[in-house]
Order: sequence, then C-alpha cells, then structure tokens
Amino acid sequence: MIQTETAKELELSSQEYLKLVSQIMSIRKRSDVPKAYVRTYGCQQNISDSEMIKGMLSQAGYSFTDNAEEADFILFNTCAVREHAEDRVFGNVGALKNLKRRHPQVLIALCGCMMEQEHVAKRIHDSFPFVGLVFGTHCLHEFPKLLYKSLVDGKRIFLRDNDDLCVHEGIKTLRDGSFKGFIPIMYGCDNFCSYCIVPYVRGRERSRRPEIIINEARDMILSGYKDITLLGQNVNSYGKGLDCDINFAKLLREIDSIDGDYWLRFMTSHPKDCSKELLDTIASSRHISLHLHLPFQSGSNRILKLMNRHYTREKYLEIINYAKEKIPDISITSDIIVGFPGETYEDFKQTLSLVEEVGFTSLFTFIYSKRNGTPAAKMDDPISAEEKSKWFSELLKTQEKIASKRCASMVGKTEKVLVEEKSKKEGFLCARTSGNIIVEFLGDESLIGTFQNVKISKARNWVLQGELIK
Ligand code: 5AD
Ligand code: SF4
Repeated sequence: MIQTETAKELELSSQEYLKLVSQIMSIRKRSDVPKAYVRTYGCQQNISDSEMIKGMLSQAGYSFTDNAEEADFILFNTCAVREHAEDRVFGNVGALKNLKRRHPQVLIALCGCMMEQEHVAKRIHDSFPFVGLVFGTHCLHEFPKLLYKSLVDGKRIFLRDNDDLCVHEGIKTLRDGSFKGFIPIMYGCDNFCSYCIVPYVRGRERSRRPEIIINEARDMILSGYKDITLLGQNVNSYGKGLDCDINFAKLLREIDSIDGDYWLRFMTSHPKDCSKELLDTIASSRHISLHLHLPFQSGSNRILKLMNRHYTREKYLEIINYAKEKIPDISITSDIIVGFPGETYEDFKQTLSLVEEVGFTSLFTFIYSKRNGTPAAKMDDPISAEEKSKWFSELLKTQEKIASKRCASMVGKTEKVLVEEKSKKEGFLCARTSGNIIVEFLGDESLIGTFQNVKISKARNWVLQGELIK
C-alpha cells in the first residue's frame, strides 16, 4: 500500500502553512506572481472541491491560469465514475511529462475520486514519476500542509484516507462564477447502487450543519448570487445523523425564507427518499426553481433490483405524477444507464416507455461502465458493446422527439430567465429558465448576471429562442 503520510493532527494551522507556501513561492515563482493551473473532471461536487482548493491557493498568493505551460503548480481534480473519465485523466497526465522535463520546478499534483482507489494510486506511483503530490477526496482539508511539504521536501507524497467521517469546515472557497454558485450540503453516499464507485471513493454520507449552510447561502445572496445549487449525492437524505431537528425539505424552507431575488436549486435527488414534503415545499416556495433532477437509471423493475436502487418503476411514476399535480410547470430531468449487466432488450424497452411516459426536459444518458470493486463488476455482462450502442442511439432519438415537443409547447409564453453568457451566435445571449432550459435572445452583454423576461418565439430541439421584453 502506498501511503507515505497518514491523516493526523496538523502541526501548524492551515493558515500558517499557506503563509509559508506564499513565502516560498514569492522567491520560486516563474513569473511576476506564482500561477496555478487547476483542471476539474466530472461532477459538480468536484467543481465545488476545486473551488475550495482554489480558495486555499489564492490565500497562498497564487493567481490562476488556463495555460498549463506557464503554471508553477498544476492540479488535476479527477473523476472515477466511468472508465472513459479515468482514461482521459491518464492520457492528459501523460502529456505533462515533457512539460515537467522542460520546467523541473513545476509541481504536478492529482486529487479527487480516482486517487482514493489503491490501484490508481499505484499506477500513478509506478508509471508517472513526475507527479509529485497525490491526495484523495478525504484529504482536501490537508491540502495546505501537503503543498508546503511537497515544496519544502521535494519528496513524493501519496495520501488517501477513506475512513475519515468528519466534515471539515472553515475552508475559504473561491467560486468560479459571480452570480451562479454551489453549496455542498453533505458529502459521501451510503446507497451502494451496485454499479457505482462513489461510496467507495467519497466514503460514508455525512451532512454539514444547517446553520453553516444557511449562513453561506445568506452571504451569497447578499453578495449578489442569483442562482444557488445545494449539492449532495443524495440530498433527500440530508440531516441524517445530525443532532438537530432537520431534514432536506426543512433546510430548503429555511433558505427560501431569506429575502432576495434568486433561484435555489439542488442536486442530486434519489427517488427512494424523495418525499411528498419535499415536493410540497417546492410548490409553496418563493425561490426554489421549478426543476427536479430525479435519476431513475432504468425503467425495468428487474434491473432496478439488480442495481440496488430500492424503488420500482411504479413508485417512481407515483412521485412524478404527484410532482406534476402539485407543480404543473415542473421541468423533470434524469440520469439513465444503458446496458447494465444482464439487461435485455425487453428491459431496455421498459426504460424507453418510462422516458415516453414522463416526458423529460432532458436526460443524462450513460452506457454502463464496469467499475472494479463494485458488485455489478462481478455480474455477467453478455450484451456486446455494439448492441448497447444501438440501444443508446434509440434512447437518444426517443428523447430528442420528446424534448423538441416539450420546447415547442413553450412558444408564445413569457419566461423569466437568468442571463448567463454570450452565445456563440453574434449578438445573442444565452440564458436559462427556472426549469433549466436554455434560451437564446438578442441582447447586450451588460445583461449577463441579471434576471430578464423573454417571450419565446421559436424552439430548436432543446434550445429556445426568444425576444427580450423591455
Ligand atoms: N456506468 C455508467 N454510468 C454510471 N453512473 C454512475 N456509475 C456509473 C457506471 N458505472 C451514472 C449514473 C449516475 C450518474 C452521475 O452517473 O446515472 O446517476
Ligand atoms: Fe452512486 Fe447511487 Fe450514491 Fe448516486 S446514490 S452516488 S448512483 S451509489
């Protein structure tokens, strides 16, 4: 086992380590200020973790660059959820070999979900000797000390600690956006869906204290954030294990009661814990967006059982029908896995029929990827990759028709949108509805970061076009 460090008490505080790093880098920097290149793979949780790392780096005096060539510190925050994501990381890390040869003083580091897997850490250790620092998701709070030790000792550090059950507070976040941002409300996952690596690399579920989350939300709203997303692998089970009277619906109501002009979003929900109380809370709220991301993964009860999902197709539809009844404008999205081990075409047809029955706004669709160490990795998987690809294309085609129809039904309506960025189309802006549908319209870029009203004039597949209402 590669573990040259164990998670133990810090000898100095994080602040003190960051100060020392700042002193070292003021001498060693390659240009006028020390620069960091941080590349994030995978989900919103990883984006949020990277924002914490950037917060710590900025306290140590680093500025940020999109060009790895000019960086003093290069960090890849990795994702382990599918094989494809891992392959990309290995490929991109391999490409840094030359850079390190040309600039030996550059520190190259890897962190995130991949690094909590023993076999990955070993491969990095043996095949990528130019990587100087490797740390897993549980060691994020130790980053100041690890960075300092790497710079001072020059020895390679590999640290994993997936037994840590603590929530570490007080890390300063440097958010990527100035009007859209994430707040992690819990870490880890206890669900052990049979295909999923997350519980093994992010550990047991643990919630942050409500007062800390509410204060963070209040600060963001006061400083002008318009779109706040609460993050967790299974937000519906928020609060379990805390010594106070709280659940996810209550937390939402507490945040919703803060005055201001903003939207509140959350992800991801698990159907087994999606309560009527939560849907009633969305229906009666002032700020919660009309969007429910509720992954169903498969429409076949047989496959859902093999996936260890703890709900049936019928239970899922019951939740969806309740949501549609209470919140008629709700926009529903989902995640689907195609080609789970043992899935037959008959099972897959059940997924197609569920997609048609619900009428999703959009879908995140994935072909099953074998993850070593999960129960599904040991199951028979007789269907060929070509066959799975065909099913996958059939699913995309079905969803495309549904999304087009759904978007077409919005033509003529006026929608409140949050303007996000310039569109690739000259003179146009990109915005999003409360239901998370993209709307493009002609407008001045000074509108970015503001809410506007747009009359929908056209629908192109899953993108709407509209006119600004002055
Ligand atoms: N293969 C394919 N997709 C997966 N997901 C999680 N694990 C796997 C896997 N092994 C998908 C699920 C989950 C989303 C984040 O990623 O659909 O909801
Ligand atoms: Fe993975 Fe299931 Fe947990 Fe989601 S709920 S992170 S799919 S184990």
